[in-house]
Amino acid sequence: MSKIIVTGGCGYIGSHTVIALIDQGYKVVVFDDFSNASEDTLDRIAKITGIRPLFTRVDLKEKIKVLEAFNEHKEAKAVIHFAAYKAVKESINNPLDYYENNLFSLINVLNAQQAVGINNFIFSSSATVYGMPESFPMTENSPVKRPFSPYGNTKKIAEEILEDYTNANTKLSFISLRYFNPIGAHDSGHIGELPSGIPNNLMPYITQTAAGLRDKLWVFGDDYPTKDGTAVRDYIHVVDLAEAHLAALQYLMKNQQKANYEIYNLGTGQGYSVLEVIKSFELANNLRLNYEITSRREGDVAVMYASTDLAKQVLGWSAKRDLKSMVASAWKWEQNFRK
Ligand code: UFG
Repeated sequence: MSKIIVTGGCGYIGSHTVIALIDQGYKVVVFDDFSNASEDTLDRIAKITGIRPLFTRVDLKEKIKVLEAFNEHKEAKAVIHFAAYKAVKESINNPLDYYENNLFSLINVLNAQQAVGINNFIFSSSATVYGMPESFPMTENSPVKRPFSPYGNTKKIAEEILEDYTNANTKLSFISLRYFNPIGAHDSGHIGELPSGIPNNLMPYITQTAAGLRDKLWVFGDDYPTKDGTAVRDYIHVVDLAEAHLAALQYLMKNQQKANYEIYNLGTGQGYSVLEVIKSFELANNLRLNYEITSRREGDVAVMYASTDLAKQVLGWSAKRDLKSMVASAWKWEQNFRK
């Protein structure tokens, strides 16, 4: 079966995708430096799938090391590039770290894969490239705008790099996947999201509050023009997201692309407010969450959800798991992990 290189394969979305790939019989090679992931993720993947992925510890900012790592796996058929820093707040405080890490890594990976002749590439992008949206749902043709954070801007610039690069090299088959809000965890409860320090994102903040690690959840703003005043997002189960990568990969491997660079939104197409997520979490897990409304968080948009038609029509993929399954799996993971 084909060998696939997964950068950042020990991270949150990367690890779930590695499992989906192994389950489909792919031979997976993970490149990771554990800068924001734990080494025992490889053991956890082995526990779930029965197979330990091949692994190379490499800092993707080191051009020569990246080339060496690719040289060891020349026969790989595709690269799925997850490795990146992703904390919005941290990126505002340390913008150069984000530009350096996310963009140097991307360029080194592209150079190395070209050097060894791998033409298929999937990039981990984000709905953040839509910036402050004007209308809904977001389609892949909605205008791309300057994201609020340097993190978001690294995704926008990365997409521009990929566009220019594929324009100059027509034999390449590249896809960018724009994630909306990935949450939840693998059904086994053995892997899930593991933010370092205080979580920025809603779901890990909820599960850590329920676990007693945080006193209370602060709900950022209840004066948005939405049904209950709290902000609306398109939450997508991380396992659905992993399966979307599989669909994109199969599409690339079958040479079905019309253009050599294509972009797909990955969401459910359904928006939920912060309060709806909280209620769903309480109901699904039969507990009460300590939360309080506070002022809006700077840079947040009121509403964001995806049009999912393109991924469905072209990749034959759509999300299957509902909000209940997302919040229940997130809580199962948090509890298992704390044990
Ligand atoms: N929220 C709270 N309290 C918290 C955390 C979040 O009320 O403690 C709210 C936010 O204000 C927002 C919603 O929950 O309304 C979702 O917030 P997240 O931080 O989980 O997600 P965002 O939509 O802000 O961020 C996501 C991705 C980022 C990406 C960003 C912009 O996680 O990677 O979208 O598109 F940059």
